[in-house]
Order: sequence, then structure tokens, then C-alpha cells
Amino acid sequence: KHHFVGKKVISTAPSNIALVKYWGKYDQQLPTNASISFTLNTCKTTTEIHVEEKNTTEDFNFQVYFEGKLKPDFKPKIESFLKKIEVYSPFLKDYKFSIHTKNTFPHSSGIASSASGLAALAKCIVDLEQSANQSQSADYYKLKTSFLARLGSGSACRSTHGNLVVWGQHSSIPESSNLYGIEFPFEVHEKFKNFCDSILLVDKGQKQVSSSVGHQLMYQHPFAEQRFKQANENLTQLTSVLQNGNYKDFFSLVETEALSLHAMMMTSKPYFILMRPNTLQIIEAIWDFRNSTQTPLGFTLDAGANVHLLYPKSVESEVKSFIKNSLASYCQNKEYIHDQVTID
Ligand code: PMV
Repeated sequence: KHHFVGKKVISTAPSNIALVKYWGKYDQQLPTNASISFTLNTCKTTTEIHVEEKNTTEDFNFQVYFEGKLKPDFKPKIESFLKKIEVYSPFLKDYKFSIHTKNTFPHSSGIASSASGLAALAKCIVDLEQSANQSQSADYYKLKTSFLARLGSGSACRSTHGNLVVWGQHSSIPESSNLYGIEFPFEVHEKFKNFCDSILLVDKGQKQVSSSVGHQLMYQHPFAEQRFKQANENLTQLTSVLQNGNYKDFFSLVETEALSLHAMMMTSKPYFILMRPNTLQIIEAIWDFRNSTQTPLGFTLDAGANVHLLYPKSVESEVKSFIKNSLASYCQNKEYIHDQVTID
């Protein structure tokens, strides 16, 4: 039984930014529509697990350290994750674990660490399992990692493998599943292979609404069915655009998705406005810049006030000076983070 004691595993997982958004779920964190995201290159979580002899009668025996400091307040979220996945990884109840985790991006930057954090944790757990039992294929472990990460945070299942990842069963994407993320199965046009994501930090504070509350608001939402249909249609269109390389259509779809996500929050009960005045200033400035210079760039938003500015690497220097000279003034302490997306 004690074959894991003394083992150490370490895993890294990136953050991702959705192009078609997941907003609404049912049963065990299954999505009410399919979504797709770019995997980021530098915003990452690294997690290390040390396995020790269990020394308590509690179901789960573990401690969490974030950037070297013991964090009891991180425990409830991890405990509820372990509870959900224990049926798939029963050994979790047999040991004591020290979990050490850190992010490459600043804490409280308003960048959600749940996708990268839970993906890194799921990777560690599957690595442990794989170290004791090599009987399954590499593909099995890959999908199991995404499957477990999904139970922690839906979008985390798009952060365990791949560069452009689809989660949710969809008629245009063969083998897509509600249970885990898969790599976008078609050849992506050269124009989308090297993209940048500059994250403009408009509000670095805690989120006004947690995403789990947000997803729940979709249960009674008057526009829910229409929204799920729209997202699936947007994914059908985006699937062609990613192959044909049309920037105009790409930004139009991605911006529609961002604004629809926020429209859902503005029209739920209770309602929320998660954009800040500077979010709108940035959006207008982006549109003006795009109209006057014809530079291919556009934005997307998560469930918060920060703006993700997406553009191909070919226009990086123009866009970086636009950020520095104009958009940065709308950011909290003029802060932003440059990240990239590489599709092999
Ligand atoms: O994975 P969750 O439950 O934190 O939900 C994430 C939802 C959005 O980030 C708003 C959209 C998405 O698809 O990532």
C-alpha cells in the first residue's frame, strides 16, 4: 500500500484564454456549450507534490504552500476537488501530501489561476498514478488528466495539453467531448500560428462574482438556450476561420463572444457589470486604432474587467507601442502582461 511514500512529482500547466466561452454547466461540471481556447506560453502554475505517510483519520491529509508560505485558506477548494476525483484516483485517501505551488504571473493580478492551478494539480496526481501503473496508453493518461482537471474547474481541462483546445461535444469537431479537452483537430492557418495576448490589467482586485456563481446564474437565465446555441454556432464558424486565415472574421467572432459573455451577466438575476469604465475606454481605443491603421487586432474578456488584446506576432512592435503610449494609461498602475500563443 505504501508504494508512494517518499515520491515527489512536479508539473507545470499554463493558463488559457477562451475564444468561444464556456458559461453554464450541468451535472458534474459538464459544459452546456462547447468552447475553444488558446493556451498561453508564459502565464503558468508549477506544482510539486511530496507524498508522506498519512497521520490522521481525516479523509484527506494534506497541506498547501503557495510561493513557500503555508496557506490554510487554499485548502477548502483543493479538498472539494479531491473529494470529486477520489473515485477516479482512490489512492488520494491513503497518503499525506504536501502541495507546493507557484505562479509565473503576479498573484492578485486579476488573472484567474484556477485553470493553470487545477491543471497542474491534476497532472501531478496522474503522474503519481502513472508512476505506479504503466498499464494504460499515454493517450489514456493525457485524457484522464484533462478529465480530472475539469472536475476542479471547467476551463482547467483546456490547460492540460495542446495549444488550441476544444472542450465540449460539437458537430464540427470529431471526437470532441464534454468530459475532457482535445486538441483542435484541423490544420490551423499560418496567420494564427504565432499570436500574442497582452493582458491589460484594468482591475487587479478580487473577482466580483466567482465563476461558479456565474455558471449557476445560467440555470434560470432567460436567454440561456439562445446563448448556448449561439456559442456552438460561433464555434462552427471559428473552426472554418482558423483554417482560412480571415482576421476580420476572427476578431468579429472573438469580440462577439466576449461581449455575449458579459451580456449574460448583465441580464442575469442578480445582475452584474464586470467591466469597468477603463475596460470600455480600452475597447473604444482598440476599435479606433483598428479602423484607422487596419492593424489586425482585437480583444477578448474573461469574467472580469481586464482586457486580453489579441494580435499576430507580425504586428507586435506597432501594437506594443500602442499599448505603451495609449492603453497602458487605462490600466491599474499602468500594468500589463505580454504573453504568446504558439501553435505547432
Ligand atoms: O473554469 P471556470 O469555472 O472558472 O469558468 C471559466 C469561464 C470563463 O473564463 C469566463 C470562460 C472560459 O471559457 O474560460
